[in-house]
Amino acid sequence: MSTSETTPKGALPYGRPPQTEFDDGLDYPRIGGVSFRRGTLTPNQAALWEEHWDRVGRTLSDEVIDPERWFGRPGPTILEIGSGTGTSTVAMAPREADHNIIAVELYRPGLAKLLGAMVRGGVDNIRLVRGDGVEVLQRMIAPGSLAGVRVFFPDPWPKARHHKRRILQSGTLRLIASRLAPGGVLHAATDHAGYAEWIEDLREVEPALEPMDWPWPECPILLDRPTTKFERRGLGLDHEIREFVWRRRAGEEPAR
Ligand SMILES: C[S@@+](CC[C@H](N)C(=O)[O-])C[C@H]1O[C@@H](n2cnc3c(N)ncnc32)[C@H](O)[C@@H]1O
Repeated sequence: MSTSETTPKGALPYGRPPQTEFDDGLDYPRIGGVSFRRGTLTPNQAALWEEHWDRVGRTLSDEVIDPERWFGRPGPTILEIGSGTGTSTVAMAPREADHNIIAVELYRPGLAKLLGAMVRGGVDNIRLVRGDGVEVLQRMIAPGSLAGVRVFFPDPWPKARHHKRRILQSGTLRLIASRLAPGGVLHAATDHAGYAEWIEDLREVEPALEPMDWPWPECPILLDRPTTKFERRGLGLDHEIREFVWRRRAGEEPAR
């Protein structure tokens, strides 16, 4: 029996996920052993998943995505890494109706929630990828193809020994820069003071990414986020929200 016959839709392969070996001396987060990817769907979510996943979802693979084919139309593509339950994804997509939005998340119930909101709201410019953000960028996204990358409220991994799991690292920034088209935008937000400091330290680390000031009224992609569940929790705790934006420099080719 082939794996596709035995693996349920959108399931990640058993065991430790395949990880690309990067040999450029930069830091890449490794979260392969982390168990937060489990979780069950409600019967309603499972039914929607069964009905829609084949059209709007895919799991991590070595197949480079052709957005024009997948969305059935051309358009600038934005990748959101760690979309969670998709609160901002589904609220922003109708406001950027000409854009094709790809949400990357490991947590299946989160993707299922987003899928439910897409179906209920008739939002058809979002597609879902289940997998690790670094691997998806490396293996499924063509170099120079993205208009934007979003990383909203990434897991802060507050303990020092877990900092290497933070998604924003020198290597991830290099990889993101290589997938952005010249002029493309990286937008990150955090409510965690330690993570904000961490990002400050990485602001200038990637030569192909130009740090931009916030606010940035002329930004070519939508920067206005609705308040997400994690953000609301942070605001309740009096956390300051920090936004970081970069523009992919033209003529500076990141080696990847
Ligand atoms: C704190 S939540 C924030 C979710 C959402 N962006 C929001 O603002 O509500 C971080 C999310 O990133 C996801 N995540 C963490 N590491 C990831 C990775 N390497 N690739 C894809 N998703 C990841 C987690 O599963 C989690 O849902």
